[in-house]
Amino acid sequence: MVNEQMKQKVKRRSQLRWVVGSIASGAAVLALATVALYPHQGHSQALTSAKVAAKPVSHGASSSKPIVYKNPPKSLIPQGRQLFAEDCQTCHGPQAEGSVRAPNLQGLGAATIDFWVSTGRMPLADPTEQATVKPPRLSHQQQLAVSAYVASLAPGGPAIPSPNLGLANLSKGESLFSENCAACHTITGVGDQLANNIYAPTLSVATPTQVAEAIRTGPGNMPRFGPGTFSNQEVDDIVRYVSYLQHPNDRGGLALGGVGPVAEGFVAILIGLGSLMVAGYWIGGRAQ
Ligand code: HEC
Ligand code: HEC
Repeated sequence: MVNEQMKQKVKRRSQLRWVVGSIASGAAVLALATVALYPHQGHSQALTSAKVAAKPVSHGASSSKPIVYKNPPKSLIPQGRQLFAEDCQTCHGPQAEGSVRAPNLQGLGAATIDFWVSTGRMPLADPTEQATVKPPRLSHQQQLAVSAYVASLAPGGPAIPSPNLGLANLSKGESLFSENCAACHTITGVGDQLANNIYAPTLSVATPTQVAEAIRTGPGNMPRFGPGTFSNQEVDDIVRYVSYLQHPNDRGGLALGGVGPVAEGFVAILIGLGSLMVAGYWIGGRAQ
């Protein structure tokens, strides 16, 4: 008799569990749909208002062309040769041809040299040290000089880009970024650990030129996105989005303490999951 009752109870419970389970998965699907749709909507709204509010950030002043690439003036080459001999050649060799300590730099182009030197990655103090972002050792003018010198040694590689953010399209930049960059740098650009010793760094400090250089040259473990992948206009759009991430006063989400549209999406999940749990407890409680 007792056994019969127990069996009944167990049966009823498993039926209820099935009901709770279906409700839960239904709600989970809804929550996922919310995540898929909500941040995007929230974001586009924010972008529209940001576009109205923000004054265009213009690089290259009145230019009506997208990003331009220029090598530094040839007159800087002698100064660059001397700087290279002092700061780089012990590792990269006198003609930047490479050595056991460091790679060949010939043919990489001015943008690559400028990126590594202006972000403070180079010069390294010792070849086993990790090349990371730090305050640059060389002045802006010296960075251009070293880039001019290395670029003069062999043809190849992009020249130094000057993005034109005044012409850029922020919402296009946002979708290009979420499709091509967010997997490593996260959608807010805070960066992420990719593997044991590989980090995709935060994008909070890179200048527009450095962002364009990173896209076109692919530093370290980052893929290179050449002209076959992104047009110059698309590079401008992405750079514009990164600079928008760096200036969060443009963001939506004020009602949630200005945490921004992406965070709002997560709040939506939390609320969704919260009500799910309450529902689960409620039904579960009745099942006892
Ligand atoms: C103490 C040794 C050392 C010195 C000095 C040094 N480098 Fe490097 N450099 C390296 C090493 C090692 C790497 C490879 C690092 C990596 O891939 O993370 C490298 C990588 C680079 C790269 C990237 C190459 C590529 O294939 O993408 C550039 C550009 C560069 N160095 C430029 C310079 C310049 C310009 C200077 C002088 C201002 C300089 N380096 C000084 C050791 C050095
Ligand atoms: C596969 C992962 C991956 C993808 C995809 C990727 N990156 Fe990177 N990115 C990296 C890594 C790793 C580094 C660091 C390279 C190094 O220091 O050796 C980096 C460095 C950078 C830097 C330099 C930051 C600084 O301050 O020095 C910028 C800017 C950047 N990425 C922008 C982008 C943009 C924009 C996109 C999309 C078009 C993108 N990245 C796509 C992995 C990635």
